[in-house]
Amino acid sequence: MKVCITGAAGGLGEALVRLHLMQGDTVFALYRRGKGALGALEASYPQRLTTAACDIADTAETERACAVLRGQTDRLDVLYNCAGISPAEHRVPLEKTDFDACLAIFNCNALGALRVVKGCLPLLGPGSAVINVSSEAGSIGQCARAGEYGYCMSKAALNMATRLLANEAAKRGAGAAAVHPGWMHTPMGGPEAPVAPEDAARGIAALALEVKTGARTGLFFDYQGNPLPW
Ligand SMILES: NC(=O)c1ccc[n+]([C@@H]2O[C@H](COP(=O)([O-])OP(=O)(O)OC[C@H]3O[C@@H](n4cnc5c(N)ncnc54)[C@H](OP(=O)(O)O)[C@@H]3O)[C@@H](O)[C@H]2O)c1
Repeated sequence: MKVCITGAAGGLGEALVRLHLMQGDTVFALYRRGKGALGALEASYPQRLTTAACDIADTAETERACAVLRGQTDRLDVLYNCAGISPAEHRVPLEKTDFDACLAIFNCNALGALRVVKGCLPLLGPGSAVINVSSEAGSIGQCARAGEYGYCMSKAALNMATRLLANEAAKRGAGAAAVHPGWMHTPMGGPEAPVAPEDAARGIAALALEVKTGARTGLFFDYQGNPLPW
């Protein structure tokens, strides 16, 4: 398989890179600031791992990275939109909410995934899957938080984007789904989180195969496949 992963230099993204390399797949890993562990992985898998800088909050940089990708492959089996931000200082109630910060979160979490999909459209055909890594925080149906507006609203918007994408993708025989990866012990989730990113990656990669076949397209579920309310 050929897969593309955003936010690939850390957390869940890096776990997905490692998993797909172990499975023998070809991986296009997009990172924002630094390559991190991707540098060593490139040395170990020079034939199957390609990396490129791609800040998904930046339209021009995302277009450049996608153009490079389109020059290297004519097809993607799975596109994982994994990159996301949840700045801890913005997990606050309304009276402390900074709207400029909300816009930055929305730009990255909601529009960023769409920028990448748009740049990869020519690579998505029959049997391709777009996996948008969302969050239970974006579920309107089971919302329990009071505050954290920027992140929760950005993931709710990503969920809507996923439904729209699934409708468009169906026309080309492809699928799209939104996945909550669990509360993972990553830099974002913190050390107390119960889910290992490697376990989340295994679950999500298995579910991606079902999105590819169209069996799970247009849905929102967690990394174990349990459905979540939009
Ligand atoms: N951790 C959890 O418990 C949890 C729960 C629910 C949902 N999620 C979602 O799961 C996904 C992965 O989370 P994680 O825990 O692995 O987070 P993480 O450890 O903070 O890693 C996020 C990755 O996204 C990259 N990134 C951030 N902004 C970016 C941008 N503008 N362009 C490109 N890459 C960008 C980061 O790159 P840098 O290295 O440059 O910072 C980093 O590699 C996110 O979408 C998150 O919202 C996480």
